[in-house]
Amino acid sequence: MVIIHEKGERVPLTICGYNAKKGTVSFAFHEVGKTTKELGCLNVGDCIMNVTGPLGNPSEIKKFGKVLCIGGSIMIAPIMLQVKAMKEAGNKVTTVLGCRSKEFLFMEKEAKALSEKVYIASDDGTIGNKGLDFLKALLKKEKFDRCVVMGPVVMMKDVSEITKPFNIPTIITLTPIMIDGMGMCGVCRVTVGGKMLFGCVDGPEFDGHQTDFEELILRQRTMLPEERVGSLLWETSGGCKCGRNKA
Ligand SMILES: Cc1cc2nc3c(=O)[nH]c(=O)nc-3n(C[C@H](O)[C@H](O)[C@H](O)COP(=O)(O)OP(=O)(O)OC[C@H]3O[C@@H](n4cnc5c(N)ncnc54)[C@H](O)[C@@H]3O)c2cc1C
Ligand code: FES
Repeated sequence: MVIIHEKGERVPLTICGYNAKKGTVSFAFHEVGKTTKELGCLNVGDCIMNVTGPLGNPSEIKKFGKVLCIGGSIMIAPIMLQVKAMKEAGNKVTTVLGCRSKEFLFMEKEAKALSEKVYIASDDGTIGNKGLDFLKALLKKEKFDRCVVMGPVVMMKDVSEITKPFNIPTIITLTPIMIDGMGMCGVCRVTVGGKMLFGCVDGPEFDGHQTDFEELILRQRTMLPEERVGSLLWETSGGCKCGRNKA
C-alpha cells in the first residue's frame, strides 16, 4: 500500500521487482486517476511518504509441471516475477502477454528469455492474436497443469471461463477496492466459492473458477463519480507539477 504524501490516499500496487542487495522494490502502474497521476508526476529522487508491505499471502510457487502464465495490461510487469519464480521451481512456462494495442506491449524480450513459448494477444489485433480466442485452440493442443493470470478483471474472467472446461486450476489476482489492506475495513470483500472473503488478507490470489466476477466488477465501480471529481479537481487546482495532467 502506497501513500504519496500526508494528504494522499492509500493505493494498492503489486510488487513487480526487487533488489535485495539495494533494499529496493519496484512497482509498475497505470495513470488512471488522481493518485496514480500524482505518482506519475514524481521525478527521480523524489520521496513517497509511506510504503507498507508486502501484504496479503505469497504466491504458491512450486513444481506443477507445465504452467501457463498470462499477464494483461500493466500487470504484465508482476506476472514476469511469477514466470521467473515458476521457471526457477522447475516448471515449463508458457507465457501470454495481453495488451490493448501494439504500443502498450512491453517486456516481450524478458518473457522470451524465461519461457518455453510466448504468445502475444491484443484487443485490436495490431500485434499477435486478436483477443483471447486462440487460447481455446492452444488448450486443445497442449495440456497445462496450472494457469496463473494477472490483469484487468474482465480478462481474468474470460481466461477463467476458457480454462474451466479443460479443468486447469486457474489462479487469479483480484483487485477489489482496498483501503487499509490489512483486513480491518471490509471494503475489499469478494465472493469466492460462495464464501465472503477479503481480497487483502485472504488473497490477493484466488481460484478463478470459483470467483463471482460480476459482483467484483459492480463493487469496483462504486466510487466512480467521486473518483472522476477527485481527479478533475486535482487537475484544475494546479496539483499537477509536471504539466502532463493539467486540465
Ligand atoms: C491488490 C491490488 C493490486 C494492484 N496492483 C496494481 C499495479 O501493480 N499497478 C496498477 O497500475 N494498478 C494496480 N492496482 C489498481 C490500483 O490500485 C488503482 O489503479 C489505483 O488505486 C487507482 O487510484 P487513482 O487515485 O489513481 O484512481 P481513481 O480514479 O481513484 O480510481 C480509478 C479506478 O481504480 C480502482 N481503484 C481506485 N481506488 C482503489 C483502491 N484504493 N484500491 C483498489 N482499486 C482502486 C477502481 O476500479 C477505480 O475505478 C491494484 C489493485 C489492487 C487491489
Ligand atoms: S482493504 Fe480493508 S479489509 Fe481489505
